[in-house]
Amino acid sequence: MKTLEQWEGNMAEMYTFTVNGKLVETDKDVSLLRFMRDELKLKSIKDGCSQGACGTCTIIIDGKATRACIMTTKRAVGMNIISVEGLTDLEKEAFVYAFGVKGAVQCGFCTPGMVMAGKALIDKNPNPTDDEIKEAIKANICRCTGYKKIIEAISLTAAIIRGDEKIDTELEKGENFGVGDDAFRIDVREKVLGYGEYVDDMEMEDMLHASAVRTKYPRARILDIDYSEALALEGVVDVLTAKDVPNNKVGHIQQDWDVMIAKGDITRCVGDALCIVVAENEDILKKAKQLVKIEYEVLEPVRSIEEARAENAPKVHENGNLCQTRHVTRGDAKTAIANSKYVITETFETPFTEHAFLEPECAIAHPYKDGVKIYSTDQSVFDTRKEVSIMFGWDPERIVVENKLVGGGFGGKEDMSVQHIAALCAHKLQRTVKIKFSRDESLSFHPKRHKMLGTFTLGCDENGIFQGLDCEINFDTGAYASLCGPVLERACTHSVGPYCYQNTDIRGYGYYTNNPPAGAFRGFGVCQSEFALESMIDLLAEKVGITPWEIRYRNAIEPGKVLPNGQIADCSTALKETLEAVKDVYDKHYPQVGIACAMKNAGVGVGLPDKGRAKLIVNNGIIEIYCGGTDIGQGSATIFVQMAAETLKLPRTAFANMGC
Ligand code: FES
Repeated sequence: MKTLEQWEGNMAEMYTFTVNGKLVETDKDVSLLRFMRDELKLKSIKDGCSQGACGTCTIIIDGKATRACIMTTKRAVGMNIISVEGLTDLEKEAFVYAFGVKGAVQCGFCTPGMVMAGKALIDKNPNPTDDEIKEAIKANICRCTGYKKIIEAISLTAAIIRGDEKIDTELEKGENFGVGDDAFRIDVREKVLGYGEYVDDMEMEDMLHASAVRTKYPRARILDIDYSEALALEGVVDVLTAKDVPNNKVGHIQQDWDVMIAKGDITRCVGDALCIVVAENEDILKKAKQLVKIEYEVLEPVRSIEEARAENAPKVHENGNLCQTRHVTRGDAKTAIANSKYVITETFETPFTEHAFLEPECAIAHPYKDGVKIYSTDQSVFDTRKEVSIMFGWDPERIVVENKLVGGGFGGKEDMSVQHIAALCAHKLQRTVKIKFSRDESLSFHPKRHKMLGTFTLGCDENGIFQGLDCEINFDTGAYASLCGPVLERACTHSVGPYCYQNTDIRGYGYYTNNPPAGAFRGFGVCQSEFALESMIDLLAEKVGITPWEIRYRNAIEPGKVLPNGQIADCSTALKETLEAVKDVYDKHYPQVGIACAMKNAGVGVGLPDKGRAKLIVNNGIIEIYCGGTDIGQGSATIFVQMAAETLKLPRTAFANMGC
């Protein structure tokens, strides 16, 4: 029906197209991503970047897989659009089964996009080859699963739709669902069909939107923050600054991270927040942020480890630029190296690495009892609760953090990012507040893998038997400590590799710079130092005149022997057997192939016991499992159900979150 304005000729242009078989109409010229998520509530279309880069918002337009974020309502006029919600029942069941059986789902944030790319291909080509599937999903990024399983899943889906394969409906119900059984993940259905809720998918009444104005310069004194024009804009509810924060210093382990940089203070990296604008909707928020005027005194930044440790270097933090140190030593490395037949010394540099989880950080907070409740995409809800309580100066009991589905983390969601700011705004305004990072904000804010600058010296005897290792590992931890201490510690304790020698002297230093912060990342510091050691071992093998396989085999740790860090290897150690298992292939292809060995702690490590607790509640005949551990895609939620099912001797159907 037309509005009065439209009948009077003063009307906005209307854009009409078909979505999942229904004709829709709008006068808004916006991206299809925004229109389909915000107006049509089609939440399978995920917002991973809004830049046409990641493929999480893939839909089918007139038969072609297309990213919804780069297509507009205006350009879609007359077109036929399909999202996961518009698949036929057979297609839905086929994709769920195939992705479940093939293990093609982890965090699930990429999955609906993969499904739509797969459907667009199968519609045109019912029997695609693996190469054709690869081509079809080349614009879709998956950071968790690896593409092999996704390719297999799309291939199986095509076979089911052709009628060449059948769905085993019993598999998802999981009659045998104990530990070690071949499990169909409990979250496959909700992730494949896109109805599983990530924070950004939540709909809450009367919700405000907030976002930070961040510094343009890594190191600058903030002379003024003028938000008067922004505050005067209709629909802007408030602008918060450092003055509004009860305790401005937060941080995962060391509280050195300013919630906001106050007027008169100096920024430490381009991710630093200067003020938080809160508005009634995202459009007003965007306009208001542009109206905030910041006056800077731009200062020379500390760009590198070398600059951070230089004499007279500007201090990134009051106490100086040395954030953390570690010293791991055993035996007499100096003498052992001096007495070695062959010695190699090399310097290695590894770069910062970005996690690039596909779900950008997002949190919603609202007043709750005498505190706040936060919905989060979080690697550790209890750490977030502790950190938010530090910010408020509250008893942690006043804060509740509930995780929604987490679209990948890889270590990059161990630190708080949006949670505390959402809580701060919600408490001050006594309203529900949502904060969601853009992809750019996510990249500039969350901690990366540490850049390393390390010098290693390794000596061996005439037979290639290691005698001693000396190394100095320098980490660039950027603007804030994050998890610098434990990451540096792992880098040091594991730099020795899984070998049997007893003389080591490893010194680790973590430096503050004005780069983005560095913290946890898969491998937790070990990737950097073991990369260096393994490179050294290859060079040493060349000097001795034996192959890289042979030098590793001669030095490999065995059960009962002592690692260079003092740990006695237990009976599960099978490095020699592993090397023997690849010897034939290695010999056949040497020197075209490389080889490396590595070790990594499982659990907390450093001799601490790993404790876990869970609570089981029977609710209407269904068992709910409550656990503080986060499933960031690795499948822990499924494992918890397997453990409980086995212990209680109950089928999977007895548990909540069946997704079916
Ligand atoms: Fe693909 Fe996580 S499962 S990004």
